[in-house]
Amino acid sequence: MRNWTEDGIAFGADYNPEQWPEQVRCEDLELMREAGVTLVSVGIFSWGLLEPEPGRYDFGWLDRVLDDLHGAGIGVDLATATASPPAWMSQRWPEVLPVDHDGRRHTFGSRQSWCPSSPVYRERSLALVEALATRYGSHPALRLWHISNELGCHNARCYCDVSAAAFREWLQRRYSGVDALNDAWATAFWSQHYTSFDQVQVPALSSSFPNPAHALDFARFSSDELLGQHLAEQAVLRRVTPDVPTTTNFMVSAGQTAMDYGRWAREQDVVSNDHYLVHALGDPRAELAFAADMTRGVAGGPWLLMEHSTSAVNWQPVNVAKAPGEMLRDSLAHVARGADGVMFFQWRASSGGAEQWHSGMVPHAGRDSDRFREVVELGAVLQRLADVRGSDVEADVAVLVDYQNAWALEAPTLPSARVGHLDVAHQVHRLLCERQTTADVVAVGAHPDDLAEVLARYRVVVVPTLYLCDDATAAAVTAAAEAGAQVVVTYLSGTVDERVRVRLGGYPGAFRDLLGVRVEEFHPLLEGVGTALDDGSTGEVWSERATVAADVEVLASYGDGAVAGSPALTRRALPGGGAAWYVGTTLDDEALDGLLQAVCAAGGVAPAAPATGFVDVVRRRDATTGRSWLFALNHGEETATVRVSGVDAVSGADVDGTLHLAPGASAVVAETPRP
Ligand code: GLA
Repeated sequence: MRNWTEDGIAFGADYNPEQWPEQVRCEDLELMREAGVTLVSVGIFSWGLLEPEPGRYDFGWLDRVLDDLHGAGIGVDLATATASPPAWMSQRWPEVLPVDHDGRRHTFGSRQSWCPSSPVYRERSLALVEALATRYGSHPALRLWHISNELGCHNARCYCDVSAAAFREWLQRRYSGVDALNDAWATAFWSQHYTSFDQVQVPALSSSFPNPAHALDFARFSSDELLGQHLAEQAVLRRVTPDVPTTTNFMVSAGQTAMDYGRWAREQDVVSNDHYLVHALGDPRAELAFAADMTRGVAGGPWLLMEHSTSAVNWQPVNVAKAPGEMLRDSLAHVARGADGVMFFQWRASSGGAEQWHSGMVPHAGRDSDRFREVVELGAVLQRLADVRGSDVEADVAVLVDYQNAWALEAPTLPSARVGHLDVAHQVHRLLCERQTTADVVAVGAHPDDLAEVLARYRVVVVPTLYLCDDATAAAVTAAAEAGAQVVVTYLSGTVDERVRVRLGGYPGAFRDLLGVRVEEFHPLLEGVGTALDDGSTGEVWSERATVAADVEVLASYGDGAVAGSPALTRRALPGGGAAWYVGTTLDDEALDGLLQAVCAAGGVAPAAPATGFVDVVRRRDATTGRSWLFALNHGEETATVRVSGVDAVSGADVDGTLHLAPGASAVVAETPRP
């Protein structure tokens, strides 16, 4: 298999020279060399130029681009160019355009306007992939195939008739017969009983609430359908160019849950991710850290940051530009968490089109700009980190997440709409980071057969609001606790099975025995209404009426309201040295931090390095040589200190015992080996 990173951390961007006159490329190549660019993604949105009419290809311009990049020593992540079909496609085959939940067919004019189940789209896209693979498979610049682009970003769920037919076929493969479907979907309710698969529709706009099991299966189908497109393109590439690795850029981030990337990651040669800071979030950098840890989790090792931004994006209400040092810090935050490449959207900021106000490595102001000077500095830092490539990230804590759970929690008919599937996971992860404690975010879908084996590696396992939980997942969590891990389960977890059927006999069904907690009734809290716990802390969002088994220690109870006196925080010690902790509400930060500290202490989990201040500290270690690098990123407004010795690749300074890090500054210390 060809090596996509060459010998160091890959550095580059989406490169869209087709947006510019050909002579601009001379300057592009000169500036790329100056910045130390090693890899660029080419051709992502160029189907319309590559195939101006059905079956007539024009590769001349792309030949020249690839030859010039190769001449400049720059590798290419070549797109299959299928992300956005040309105008002729929907003009000739209007049924390719997707239909939204409310029954509106999209028009041509933006991007990614295609139905994931469309046979026409599939046929035309695969013809293009075959033509590209045949033409460029042996091009010396080619390092990696970039399948489509952010599959499902705008067309994740299509509700057209073609999709409905494909959904019915998918259901027929999933269920042995229509009675099995009736049983799984509880269709005795509201007269939804089916006598034939032909009667099943997609869960589009209807008179009242959808059946949650129907909606969940449609979410599963939709993820599988896009994965099917990915696999079809990949099959062509693997047949024509078996030695070239393939990737497709994921969108592991707060807002995107439509694709089960745990499942998808199993199909990748290289896992790559796109990440953008979302300023509407309370703490966008905490979300960055979570997303990067989750990308590593699904990848099972190093991965490629395919896109992030040098500065502002163009798709938020207010597009905040990055302050000096922020781009370096964000880039290193991804490398700290396992990225072996740092790439941006895009190389040169566009002058026209919908993304003309999106930042690039070369801004509108051109080379003579602080932004480009920072890009050059970043390239130099990454070159000094070449040996980090391939090393592991040290983590003793796992946070368990599941896309299927996210889909189940989309239902508009739950006890509370205030429970986001990642809210507690984010809070736990953020508080751990603030204590310099690294967590792996483990996605259930990535481990269909080996979840128990994976969880057995951790001293602490956190299971936050894992509403939908199948028996195998529950068994893996239980096994981890029984083998000695500290397991923390939070409210609503384990209450329904994979058919979203309630586990009866008291919540949290799947974890009731492990925790020794039996919840009789949920008492979700209205916005602005908190609950006081008898240890002085407060809870929000959730409370419940519960009882505990005799061997359970109650750490705190609800102090007021309808459930006063009921246990809110509990711990059950297990014979193997492990313990099962339960958290029945959304704790305030101080209380949850205290609890996590107690859990980490019980599990023997230490921070990556002792530190003061609001500093993110993560260690990567090369398993073969034992060399290690301590990444320290000061997100705070005061100087931070970190206990470490070695040489800082950012400043070049020797660090002897204590690193002093100015506000906003970053360091990567190649650690002095321990004697
Ligand atoms: C996504 C896409 C890019 C670009 C960026 C803008 O990540 O893949 O083509 O639109 O968003 O932030």
